[in-house]
Amino acid sequence: MNEQKTGQISIIIGCQWGDEGKGKLVDILAQKHDMIVRATGGANAGHTIYVGDKKVIFHLIPSGVLHPGKIAVIGNGCVIHIPTLFEEIETLKKEGVDLDGRLWISDHAHIVLDYHRTLDALQEEQKGGKKIGTTKRGIGPAYADKIMRMGIRIGELLNFEKFTEKYLANLAFHQKAYGLEHDGTTELAQLKDFAEKIRPYVTETFNVIRTAEKTGKKILVEGANGALLDIDHGTYPFVTSSNASIGGIITGTGIAPQQLGRIIGIVKAYTTRVGSGPFPSELLDEIGEAIRTKGAEFGSTTGRPRRCGWFDGVVTRYACELNGVTEINLTKLDVLSGMKTLKLATSYTHNGKVLNSFADCIDIPEEIEVHYEEMPGWGEDISKCKTREELPQNAQNYIARIEELSGVRVSSIGVGHDRMQMIGE
Ligand code: GDP
Ligand code: IMO
Ligand code: MG
Repeated sequence: MNEQKTGQISIIIGCQWGDEGKGKLVDILAQKHDMIVRATGGANAGHTIYVGDKKVIFHLIPSGVLHPGKIAVIGNGCVIHIPTLFEEIETLKKEGVDLDGRLWISDHAHIVLDYHRTLDALQEEQKGGKKIGTTKRGIGPAYADKIMRMGIRIGELLNFEKFTEKYLANLAFHQKAYGLEHDGTTELAQLKDFAEKIRPYVTETFNVIRTAEKTGKKILVEGANGALLDIDHGTYPFVTSSNASIGGIITGTGIAPQQLGRIIGIVKAYTTRVGSGPFPSELLDEIGEAIRTKGAEFGSTTGRPRRCGWFDGVVTRYACELNGVTEINLTKLDVLSGMKTLKLATSYTHNGKVLNSFADCIDIPEEIEVHYEEMPGWGEDISKCKTREELPQNAQNYIARIEELSGVRVSSIGVGHDRMQMIGE
């Protein structure tokens, strides 16, 4: 019997509603890993990295590729809009980042087609005041086709004749089912070119990851979106259309659970959310506005202003438990410098009864009462701090309280957007 090595694969997972700062940590940890893998989602994700004054935003390509020689894998659980993928590949090439020979795309990942995007917009329009506020990247309709077992996978593009047949049949179905007006001629012509361009990158990635793991390579999985946007465990229906939490990492790659090692939950020192849906600790006042301005809280994918609020311990404890988080990377602590008093949501009640966990509030978010605790802030600039002990005492106390509320230790702390501004990694 083969002896199983365990615990070699590290996971990075967002523990709020996305945009926690996953990309920055992936970029930092990529230096200590050989392979970086995306497991779920598509170009709804926007992962930002700053290297000096250069800003790079990744949507589909794993965020570790700025480091030469690192292998990048887009796993079977992802949905890929091919023109967006090549736009990203070309932009990186112009920056001197060549992915040839080190980017692998799963033949089982599904293709996002232009009519998925049209449908996404149409669905939002029809919802009127109940919009989800999607990124309009066609994510929901592409995953819907996958679940309906009519989606088209990347591997199918390699036999263009068969692909065309399926594309036209699917288009006819969507036209009939949804009254969609869409002419596929331009897209088909474009995809014919892309079919040849994508061929060298396409493979069965289960084996690529498995072989890397068996030969002792260090693997890092880059979660997308956030645990509270998970289709099953998030604030449904105001969620994305995939399992953005740990389950999706497993199914979206074929990694076995015992291969997991560090499960790093990314937690912003306050809370943000883009799009609609419940947000118990939201600040609709000038404090929220001040956090948005100081934290540059505008979407990396859509540019929309992010809703801002206090840190919520009920949310992060739930996300940590759900994902088996072993340690927290606390991000954007620097943004809170200068605030006289900080508030943290510590519990929710419903009709006077304390709720056991965030899971109990998902169906009744407007009926709950949020309870806060206040802590004194700090005035010092912390952006150059290199150790936790160097932080002002009040900042250390704030972190310690976040650990208590989340039930997990904080192992690294972001004190600025640059890759050098990270205590503990
Ligand atoms: P992701 O989707 O989780 O990768 O996060 P985004 O890139 O969408 O948004 C996080 C934003 O915060 C990006 O602009 C990052 O550069 C920035 N950021 C990450 N960590 C820190 C930090 O510790 N301090 C500050 N000031 N900015 C940070
Ligand atoms: P990263 O990886 C923040 C949100 C959208 C919307 C809902 C559904 O950058 O953290 P979708 O287009 O997926 O159907 O939109 O989910 N959303 C995100 N919010 N960060 C993300 O990704 C997100 N991906 C999806 O704003 O509310
Ligand atoms: Mg983002």
